Amino acid sequence: MNQPTIAFIGAGNMASSIIGGLIQNGWPAERLIATARTEATLSAIKDQFAIETTTDNHQAVQQADIIMLCVKPQMMKAVLSDVRSSISADSLLISVAAGITMSSLEAWAGNGQAIVRSMPNTPSLLQCGAAGLFANTAVTPEQKILVDRVFSAIGIAEWVQEESLIDAVIAVSGSGPAYYFLFMEVMEQVGTQLGLDQETAKRLTQQTAFGAARMAQASDVDVAELKRRVMSPNGTTEQAINTFMDGELPALIEKAMNAAVKRSIEMAEALKD
Ligand SMILES: NC(=O)c1ccc[n+]([C@@H]2O[C@H](COP(=O)([O-])OP(=O)(O)OC[C@H]3O[C@@H](n4cnc5c(N)ncnc54)[C@H](OP(=O)(O)O)[C@@H]3O)[C@@H](O)[C@H]2O)c1
Repeated sequence: MNQPTIAFIGAGNMASSIIGGLIQNGWPAERLIATARTEATLSAIKDQFAIETTTDNHQAVQQADIIMLCVKPQMMKAVLSDVRSSISADSLLISVAAGITMSSLEAWAGNGQAIVRSMPNTPSLLQCGAAGLFANTAVTPEQKILVDRVFSAIGIAEWVQEESLIDAVIAVSGSGPAYYFLFMEVMEQVGTQLGLDQETAKRLTQQTAFGAARMAQASDVDVAELKRRVMSPNGTTEQAINTFMDGELPALIEKAMNAAVKRSIEMAEALKD
């Protein structure tokens, strides 16, 4: 089978990171096409990736096997409702928009279209993303393999079997980068209060976050055990972790993640029509 053609409707940050990842992973540039409203955006994409670009969404989707919907959530209804007459029944739609439900996408795209709703996160821009994926019943096993190939270009992706679990993905990985940024922000600040110069505090904090994540990925024991191994009895780490526990940090994390889920449900409701 020929390499499928992917049309990116909307050529902003998310589309650029996926296009960049696909090209780095050997996807032929001539099998990618991107659209935007402005020539300025398109010429930047063309300069960077040497792919076909157009302001005509209809022209782009007519030649595509996979259509990546990469516009802002509030633009999705107008864009999809307009372009649906040009979408082939065999094409696969993939939405990256936060807060747009499958039932909205199905209503705007028309009956029977194969659609995947994805929830990527910002490290996708560096091909270190973590995405959740949910397919409607029209998506074939072969199309799921293609979706895995697309998302592996920007990191990892996990399929969920119920759409409501996309809210859990939002609470874990969608919003998750900001949790770690907050932790790093405070660690850098306290490091400087303790006398380190700002650059040193920043470099030590960043490398520690990176090293901890790499260790968690590489290790055959869970993170609770990795934590225990750093906590020598009566040592410095034990003092710090006990202080977190006294301040009920785990309960606070749970509360924060539940607040993210609640907001996601509210946003989906507001954007559905
Ligand atoms: N950025 C992230 O890390 C991230 C993470 C998770 C999910 N997402 C999702 O990704 C989607 C895109 O976000 P983004 O950050 O990439 O936004 P962005 O940088 O603003 O890109 C949006 C693009 O859509 C184009 N566009 C607007 N209306 C259009 C139309 N009618 N036809 C064709 N193209 C049109 C814009 O073109 P012009 O430039 O010409 O105006 C722009 O290139 C959103 O739905 C968001 O929820 C993003």
